[in-house]
Formats: sequence, structure tokens, C-alpha cells
Amino acid sequence: RQKALMPSEIRAMKGGTPIVSLTAYTTPMAQMMDAHCDFVLVGDSVAMVQHGLASTLSATMEMMILHGQAVARGLETAMMVVDLPFRSFEESPEQAFRNAARMMAETGAGAIKLEGGEHMAETIHFLTRRGIPVMAHVGLTPQAIHTLGGYKVQGRGAGAEQILADARAVSDAGAFAVVLEKVTESLADRITAEVPIPTIGIGASVGCDGQVLVVDDMLGLFTAFKPKFVKRYGQLGQDGAAAIAAYAADVRARAFPAAEHVFADEAPGKAS
Ligand code: KIV
Ligand code: NA
Repeated sequence: RQKALMPSEIRAMKGGTPIVSLTAYTTPMAQMMDAHCDFVLVGDSVAMVQHGLASTLSATMEMMILHGQAVARGLETAMMVVDLPFRSFEESPEQAFRNAARMMAETGAGAIKLEGGEHMAETIHFLTRRGIPVMAHVGLTPQAIHTLGGYKVQGRGAGAEQILADARAVSDAGAFAVVLEKVTESLADRITAEVPIPTIGIGASVGCDGQVLVVDDMLGLFTAFKPKFVKRYGQLGQDGAAAIAAYAADVRARAFPAAEHVFADEAPGKAS
């Protein structure tokens, strides 16, 4: 893709017009958002919203690569970022490089995203010095849900200093942007002011340098639960269920297929 935005261009949007992002997992979704988003994230949330898994921990490299390839086919101008799944990068910088490089080579992603702050700084430094642009992700990191003890708001009280330190560390290590998930508004505003790379908020603050949402959440497609930070801009789940109910009723009433959906013996136009 010649026209795709580059990580350096996203980096340069710090403090300007807010950066727009959504997740995508398929070609048609990517096509729908390409003209409206600066970057599209192939999030490991795909495990939950598209594969029905209980958490993101079960996402795999194969899953992320297949969805990354599908999304890439639907994008022209938006940058594509793909999540590194749980257990693909945490062991060592070398393991992270091997999997990040494979992800970029096989999907055409412009960057990868990985969860973690200070403890991932060495890995982020290793990747960014070797041609892999990294978006970091701090605050609520869903791959660490079992050690965090649930999907709780992060950065209330003493935890705030650690998350600020995490954001500073990933920036110093060379990340071009950082996702802030489910942190207090005041902490998100403080990080946005004090850290030189763009902050991309999800459950963070309107003051972040950009916003991201899971597309299935904002379209009302994923309805198992709705986090407080999600705004539903559509009701596609309801609309889809109503369409399917209408189809089922038509079939049972022999109202579908109708005359315009079936084929005569003679092709139209040839018949005299
Ligand atoms: O996997 C995902 O969708 C994400 C976003 C919520 C930032 O990481
Ligand atoms: Na993710």
C-alpha cells in the first residue's frame, strides 16, 4: 500500500486533531472504516468478539495473522497495527522479535502492539532498533487479567505513579504511541501532558491524543456485556436478529424466494 499512514506520521499527530482508530478483524469491516480512521487495530479482542472465547488469553499467532491478512485487504490509507497475542512476546526480546517480524512479514502490518509498561521497555527497545514500530498498551492490560484480578479501573490512588512510569518507559524505549485502557480521566490527562508520544484512550479521557474502540462494541454487534466506556453508535446485533427472524418467517410461509429470485426456463431478453 503506497498511501498508508506511517507510524512516524501517527507520532507527529501528538497534540493535534485527535487520532481516530477502531478495531477490525475482517475485510468488509476494514473497508467500512478505512476512509475514517487514521489507524486500524487488529486487536486480540477478536478472540472474544469474533471467536466466542472467554478472554483474550486464547488468541494465537495463527488467529492474529489470518485476521491481519483479511483486514489488510480492506485498507488503502489507514495504517494497520496488529496485536501480539499472549505468550508470543513475553519470554524474551528475541522471542518478541521473531513473532513481531513474522506478523509484519505475513500481514503487511505497519506496526505491532504489545501489552506492558516498564517490564516490556527492554523488548520495545530491541524491536524498535530492528525495524519494528511498536505501539504500547498500559493501564488495564487484558492479557494480565489473572494477575490484575479483574477488569478494574487502573490508576486510582497509588497505582497512578506506576502507570505514569510505564507510559514514560515505553516512550523512552521507542514506542511511537501508547494505548491507555480503563484508567482514570485525571491520570490519562496527566500522561497525555507529560509523555511525548500520542496517547490513545479507551476508557480514559477525551483529552487523549486519540481514541480507539472495539468495533463490535460500538456497532452493537457484541452484546454479551457493555463496558461503561463503550458508546454504541449502532444496533447491528438487534438489526441482524430482526432480519434473520423476518427471513425465517418468510421461509416458513413460502414467501421467500419470490418471483424475482427464481429462474425461468428462458433467459430474460431472449424470450420473444
Ligand atoms: O484487542 C483490542 O481490541 C485492544 C483495544 C481495546 C485497544 O487492544
Ligand atoms: Na488487545
